[in-house]
Amino acid sequence: MPKIQINNLSISINEKKILNNINLEINKGDVIAIVGPNGNGKSTLLKSIMNHYSVEKEGGDILIDGVSTNEMEPNEIMKNGIFFAPQNSEEIPGVLMIDFLKAIVNANRDTPIKMAELFKNIEAILKDLNLDRSILKRFVNHGFSGGEKKKSEILQMKLLNPECILLDEIDSGLDVDSIKLVINELKKIVDGEKSLIIVSHQQKIFDVIKPNKVIVIMGGKIIKEGDYSLLEKINNEGYEWLNF
Ligand SMILES: Nc1ncnc2c1ncn2[C@@H]1O[C@H](COP(=O)(O)OP(=O)(O)O)[C@@H](O)[C@H]1O
Ligand SMILES: [Mg+2]
Repeated sequence: MPKIQINNLSISINEKKILNNINLEINKGDVIAIVGPNGNGKSTLLKSIMNHYSVEKEGGDILIDGVSTNEMEPNEIMKNGIFFAPQNSEEIPGVLMIDFLKAIVNANRDTPIKMAELFKNIEAILKDLNLDRSILKRFVNHGFSGGEKKKSEILQMKLLNPECILLDEIDSGLDVDSIKLVINELKKIVDGEKSLIIVSHQQKIFDVIKPNKVIVIMGGKIIKEGDYSLLEKINNEGYEWLNF
């Protein structure tokens, strides 16, 4: 698992300052919960780690195993074993899911995967996720329900088997049964080796994955860091007490 260091990171979007002086280290086996009220920069932080096209670095740096990502394209960051499931999945009309999945798998290995092997892997995951195989013949995320979009992200994640996983509100739009499926997948990730950074408002998820680190983002800053007990305090008292 690559070590990720975020040093004094400041980010703007459309010339508006969104993140201010963020410092965070992600180590092997870390399970980090990122929480905070809406519109405070949680999604922007995850996008920044990927060098998402929408963010602009104003200052600071992100290092993967000591190497700056300043000049890296998102696909290079992905090749370092980092996977990102965004809060809102992009729709790609004209590109079939099966072609997309094949492309992302091959982009992350040295020799192209055999179709039979790819199908075998995909079939197993579709079953785990209770998804119909007809999804493979649809355009990527196009017209997908909220739940299908989230499951499509998990499908990609499982195919790529990344070391470090960034999930932005992976639970939103899921019905109770689907939430159970997704929580079950998250449980498999937490193995002491892989690291998981998750933005969520659902305590149900945190109950299961038991984050070792909890980070509260407000006003584009990390205003509080703690262990699991911080989540309990926030669940009981909200965010108001932090807003000094
Ligand atoms: N593409 C964008 N254009 C303009 N403002 C944006 C854009 N993306 C995010 N923002 C703004 O950045 C702030 C932080 O957003 P975000 O990181 O999505 O918050 P969170 O994930 O904590 O809800 C918000 O004020 C939001 O309106
Ligand atoms: Mg968000």
